[in-house]
Amino acid sequence: MNRKILGEQIHGHLQLYRDLGVRYVSRPAPSAQNRKPKTKNPESPPAETVIAAGETVVTAGETLEAILADIGNCRRCKLAPTRTNLVFGSGNPRASLMFVGEAPGADEDEQGLPFVGRAGRLLTLIVESIGFRREDVYICNILKCRPPNNRNPETDEIAACEGFLFRQIAAVQPGVIVALGTFGAQTLLKTTETIGKLRGRLLDYRGVKLIATYHPAYLLRSPLEKRKVWDDMRIAHNYIRALPRQ
Ligand code: URA
Repeated sequence: MNRKILGEQIHGHLQLYRDLGVRYVSRPAPSAQNRKPKTKNPESPPAETVIAAGETVVTAGETLEAILADIGNCRRCKLAPTRTNLVFGSGNPRASLMFVGEAPGADEDEQGLPFVGRAGRLLTLIVESIGFRREDVYICNILKCRPPNNRNPETDEIAACEGFLFRQIAAVQPGVIVALGTFGAQTLLKTTETIGKLRGRLLDYRGVKLIATYHPAYLLRSPLEKRKVWDDMRIAHNYIRALPRQ
């Protein structure tokens, strides 16, 4: 890459870190960056362990491809007629760090990929601020289809879709889940507690560590809260760094 462009990119990143309130940057050991190989071991055991979780049956060992195939051309809720593309998720299927947002917006609906708009660009910088690349982590949402005019997800839509998310988590087996915003956190934790009360500490989602933090779209409107997100990301990062090498 051209040195000038590289210099400008580094300058841009440093500016963002300053905005986030970052005072230092540490580089995790390679084992923490990529706890697992990028591709699934083709000889991994077939799906067999079944964990009943509420009304959702989560099958450990299931692949993301199988879950996507099960979603198919989904017509399970009222969002189906207005979507352009279903947004399943993207990233490393064996990621140690998994981000769960709310629902696709206009850009995501257009491209069929999560977090590719303005909020997504900020999410990429947040991911990079703890030494990961976007492709190292796995990113998805509670809802796989865009609510019209980006309105909040409704209870029946979450009920129709959340089971796929639970199965995605079981497939990826992340070390830490970062729940972005109220809907992500409340859906996974089955709570009505506010994000302000939930953030700042490691919580538990069915035996997986979860940190709840503010949604990047909220940060675009309230940049002064970026510092808290940085604090939350450091908690997640410190936990992942301490995980045994796999
Ligand atoms: N906001 C979300 O919660 N998810 C996306 O994919 C994009 C914006």
